[in-house]
Amino acid sequence: MPDRNLGMDLVRVTEAAALAAARWVGRGDKIAADQAAVDAMRLMLSSVDMDGIVVIGEGEKDQAPMLYNGERVGTGRPPQVDIAVDPIDGTRLTAEGRPGALAVVAASERGTMFDPKHLVYMRKIAVGPEAKEVIDIRDTVENNLKRIAKALGKSVSEVTVMVLDRPRHKDLIAEIRATGARIRLIMDGDVAAAITAAMPDTGIDVLMGIGGSPEAVVAAAALKCLDGGFQAMLWPRNEEEKRLAEERGLDIHQVLTIDDLIRSDNVFFALTGITTGELVAGVKYTRQGAITESLQMRSRSGTIRRIRALHRWDKLMRISQVPYRGNGEKGD
Ligand code: FBP
Repeated sequence: MPDRNLGMDLVRVTEAAALAAARWVGRGDKIAADQAAVDAMRLMLSSVDMDGIVVIGEGEKDQAPMLYNGERVGTGRPPQVDIAVDPIDGTRLTAEGRPGALAVVAASERGTMFDPKHLVYMRKIAVGPEAKEVIDIRDTVENNLKRIAKALGKSVSEVTVMVLDRPRHKDLIAEIRATGARIRLIMDGDVAAAITAAMPDTGIDVLMGIGGSPEAVVAAAALKCLDGGFQAMLWPRNEEEKRLAEERGLDIHQVLTIDDLIRSDNVFFALTGITTGELVAGVKYTRQGAITESLQMRSRSGTIRRIRALHRWDKLMRISQVPYRGNGEKGD
């Protein structure tokens, strides 16, 4: 018998977060945007039939009142799952009204998600299915790009690499440029970047560089569904973080593959656009309500759904506790 696709419920969760965050697009308030997304996501997660533990969340309980690491979410009924949330990947993009902000949730079987603990950053490389066998994060940028180009049947100068625009990537950018490959610098959002690299016909072939560790686990969940290639290594910023890694049993020399980051073949993933980017459109307002665009995927079946939804204020605001409209006033 076909089993349940938890991802279908998760789309409602990311839709809710995106709709709530969208009220704050361009209003210059990162914290309010994030809070709105977290509140909506948590409320919607509580309705999902699952016994979830947040493994990748908003951080430690003391700093994050909601969706903190270790928090139980869902109705408490089976299945038992690990949950990764990124209510907004791209809070600054949202606050400044720039492209590419997403709301994201992933679920996998209990005990299967990698916990990066207090190690904030990882070095990452992501590609699509055609190049997944040829990446090696320990090898040089040049060798990787040559092999990726060959696997894609392109010249290196036709390969486009997405890189977060950060001072720490000065050398990486120089190395990529030296190969003749093209670069797309992005301000934020390397979950979206990894997925964009793994999806066909986006014009983006690779993600390279250092970004958030939680985002690496989230990206690995998506790339497992997309059959993409992803490798990461913890990137301690200083001696203190190296010591912490050792103390907590994390190996900073280990190459973390998709299967290390998500040790399960049963992964569910959903994202919804907040602002329009390469992957999905952002939230659009119409006379009747709002339109969202989402991607929903599942590793076991390999199905990828693109879901465009119309949310009607006249009906929704009668039943929803989330203030999706106006300035936070329910039904405004
Ligand atoms: P937030 O939306 O949570 O701020 O994350 C945005 C992001 O760009 C991630 O996509 C990325 O992994 C991380 O920040 C990079 O961290 P930093 O901004 O410290 O370089």
